[in-house]
Amino acid sequence: MTRRISLTQYLIEQQRQHGHIPQELRLLIEVVARACKRIAISVNKGALGDVLGTAGSENVQGEVQKKLDIIANEVLIEANEWGGHLAAMASEEMEGIYLVPNRFPQGEYLLMFDPLDGSSNIDVNVSIGTIFSVLKKPEGSKGISEDDFLQPGSAQAAAGYCVYGPQTTLVLTVGDGVAMFTLDREQGSFVLTQEDVKIPEDTKEFAINMSNMRHWDAPVKRYIDECLAGVEGPRGKNFNMRWIASMVADVHRILTRGGVFMYPWDKREPNKAGKLRLMYEANPMAFLVEQAGGAATNARERILDLKPSQLHERVSVVLGSKNEVERVTRYHLEQGR
Ligand code: AHG
Ligand code: MN
Ligand code: MN
Repeated sequence: MTRRISLTQYLIEQQRQHGHIPQELRLLIEVVARACKRIAISVNKGALGDVLGTAGSENVQGEVQKKLDIIANEVLIEANEWGGHLAAMASEEMEGIYLVPNRFPQGEYLLMFDPLDGSSNIDVNVSIGTIFSVLKKPEGSKGISEDDFLQPGSAQAAAGYCVYGPQTTLVLTVGDGVAMFTLDREQGSFVLTQEDVKIPEDTKEFAINMSNMRHWDAPVKRYIDECLAGVEGPRGKNFNMRWIASMVADVHRILTRGGVFMYPWDKREPNKAGKLRLMYEANPMAFLVEQAGGAATNARERILDLKPSQLHERVSVVLGSKNEVERVTRYHLEQGR
């Protein structure tokens, strides 16, 4: 049985006993978790809190912003800017980086987030979440610019997400496996509910938006066709499908019971590498999935090895159970470039 300890105690153990995280990083993660609690409160209020619907604005990616996209972004900035652990932040909802104002002490870390993932699910009361990624400011860099953020995912010091579903669950890695914490609303704290999360290497469940099938690249079509052929097909087993349209919720299912998640490049917008964003969606999820024994690629290369060239860069994503991710990746590599 998992020890029922708080997130605070877990992080202190990571700091003291295992030497995995410096105090600064521990405090930073606590602040992010506190912000997620505040976001959870807004999410739960729904129509009563007047948080549903659109805000009437667009973000830098040309997407309509929902009220909760903006609320969550503000909560994360407000909670994190004064603590002294950060040098700057970047978010899906802000075009440029956000420097910690001069009136506050400057820290060593950079924080990136998708404040509200799964925006299309907000108004229909389906699970949504917050995704975050922590990097260290490059050594010797004076002042902070966007370039300082453009580090490969393998450089992440910590990453995680909080899913606002039937339960509010925070899932975290500091590079020593994956731990899950459930929000105890009476106590007001995150409590460790699963340690050493492991994704099974094989699966019979895939997640992809099937409505895009006619736009897919041949290797994606091949993989899904083989799954759909079931027990009579080359895979010799029946597959199940799930698509929540909140990456947090789909990844949470995969961390819980395995599966493969794909948001591949397709012909709708051939000049975009994919729909999902590398720095604050794919990288943190790839870090978590690898730490749980799974794999994550852009259908050809390991996501964590990619060197970003811009903050809001998009990427093709295949992640989850190792053997399935390797198969999808192999189909792409066989096709050539
Ligand atoms: P966001 O709400 O942060 O823009 O992200 C939504 C993403 C991701 O969570 C999900 O997997 C995907 O978009 C769903 O896209 P489709 O609506 O194209 O299926
Ligand atoms: Mn998102
Ligand atoms: Mn978002």
